[in-house]
Amino acid sequence: MSTKRLSREVIFSEDAIRARVSAMAQAIAADTPEGDELSVIALLDGAFMFCADLVRRLPMPVRLALVPMRAVRHGGDPSAIRLPPDFPVEGRDVLIVEDILDSGETLAALSRALEPLGFARRRIAVLLDKPYHRSAEVRPDYVGFSCPDRWVVGYGLDHEGLFRNLPYVSYVE
Ligand code: IMP
Ligand code: MG
Repeated sequence: MSTKRLSREVIFSEDAIRARVSAMAQAIAADTPEGDELSVIALLDGAFMFCADLVRRLPMPVRLALVPMRAVRHGGDPSAIRLPPDFPVEGRDVLIVEDILDSGETLAALSRALEPLGFARRRIAVLLDKPYHRSAEVRPDYVGFSCPDRWVVGYGLDHEGLFRNLPYVSYVE
C-alpha cells in the first residue's frame, strides 16, 4: 500500500498536456535543419509516456534510445548509464527527453556521460520544470510546464511505483 493519497486535483490536464507536447514538437522541429536525423534519448522510467507522445509528433527521422536511469538516481554511479551499443552519438544531433527536472542531478549525470561521445549538438526537453530544489546546473532547451513544489504523479511520473498510468498530472498528499 502507498503511504500517500492521490489528490483529486488535476494540475495539468490531458488536453493541456497534448497541446503543450504538440507545441514542443513544433519548436524542436523548427530548430532542426531540414533533412537532419535526430537521436532521441529518453530517460526511463518516467519519460516513457511523454517521449511516446513527443516523438510521434516529430517530422524528422528519429533514432530512439530508452535508457534506464534508476541505477544512477539512487546514489548510483553515472558510469552505470548505458546507451544501446549501436546507438550513434558521435557527430549527431541529440535530444534528451526527461519527465521532470528537479535537483538537476539526473540530467547533469547524463550530460557528463555524453560529453566524451562527441555529439554535434545536444538539446534537452523536459515536460516539467520544478525549480525549487536545484543542486546541479541544467539549462533545458524546451520546457512543457513549470511545476509547483509538490510530488507530482501521472503521465509517466510515479510515487513509489504507482500512478504512472494516469493520462494527466496530479500530486500525492
Ligand atoms: P532530479 O535528478 O532531482 O532532477 O530528478 C529527476 C528525477 O526525479 C525525475 O526523472 C523523476 O524520476 C524524479 N522526480 C523528481 N521530482 C518528482 C516528482 O515530483 N514526481 C515524480 N518523480 C519526481
Ligand atoms: Mg522517476
